[in-house]
Amino acid sequence: MNPKDIKLVIKEKYGSIVKPAPGNVQSSCCGGFSGCCGSGTTMATDDYTNLKGYDPNADFGLGCGIPTQFAGIRPGDYLLDLGSGAGNDCFVARAIVGENGSVTGLDMTSEMVAKAEENNKRLGYKNVSFICGDIEDMPLPDNSFDVVVSNCVLNLVPDKRKAFAQIIRVLKSGGHFCISDVVTMGELPEEVRRDEDMYAGCISGAVEKEEYLRIIEEQGFKKISVHKETKIEVKGEVLNKSGVKVLSITVSGYKS
Ligand SMILES: C[S@@+](CC[C@H](N)C(=O)[O-])C[C@H]1O[C@@H](n2cnc3c(N)ncnc32)[C@H](O)[C@@H]1O
Repeated sequence: MNPKDIKLVIKEKYGSIVKPAPGNVQSSCCGGFSGCCGSGTTMATDDYTNLKGYDPNADFGLGCGIPTQFAGIRPGDYLLDLGSGAGNDCFVARAIVGENGSVTGLDMTSEMVAKAEENNKRLGYKNVSFICGDIEDMPLPDNSFDVVVSNCVLNLVPDKRKAFAQIIRVLKSGGHFCISDVVTMGELPEEVRRDEDMYAGCISGAVEKEEYLRIIEEQGFKKISVHKETKIEVKGEVLNKSGVKVLSITVSGYKS
């Protein structure tokens, strides 16, 4: 698939999952497991329910970590969430940045943005906003955020170099990112790479952990650290026979 087709598939799959009743993961195409759309993965669910700001209406069980946990967010911070979905991490971040900060969620799937806006309207936050846009070409000014977070999204972005180049562009000097994402140990078999459902399911677009960290470093980030690493069990004969491991990591890095 070329990058344009990949994005169309992602928009279609993620657009269709916000239509069923929110908070009911069983009724979405993620049916009954935690993780990305249609992945056939089993991850130990990261429990958001006790986090301040958590809104079950924004939680479609699509994450692979809790990036806000390790993001060192401070009251008054300007925060950007990439691939914000229905707003799950944005509302948790809002509880930390408070009245004087601001939270922006960016997502390229218009149905997701509409769902996030609907949630935000109900919650009544004046300093949370959602915009439709592509991470590879963000419609946002340079040097404007203290913190960038993202949860289980960059694996879906075809050009990860572009994504991290955009992140460093929009961060203020001294700002940082904290991202939870899917990576691999070993190279995915070609058959898995070409599988549309596994791509939307956050597997096929994942790169090797070493490469992921190298891309971050190449874009100029400093003090890169991996805070958490969890093995993900994925159903699928080809992948399992290949011996390639799939992991969720939460990683941060600073712009100097
Ligand atoms: C697995 S979901 C995660 C949603 C959210 N972060 C959460 O944890 O609930 C991936 C989201 O990333 C969005 N996405 C994927 N590729 C994107 C891109 N290139 N630009 C903007 N959003 C993207 C999808 O539309 C989808 O809402």
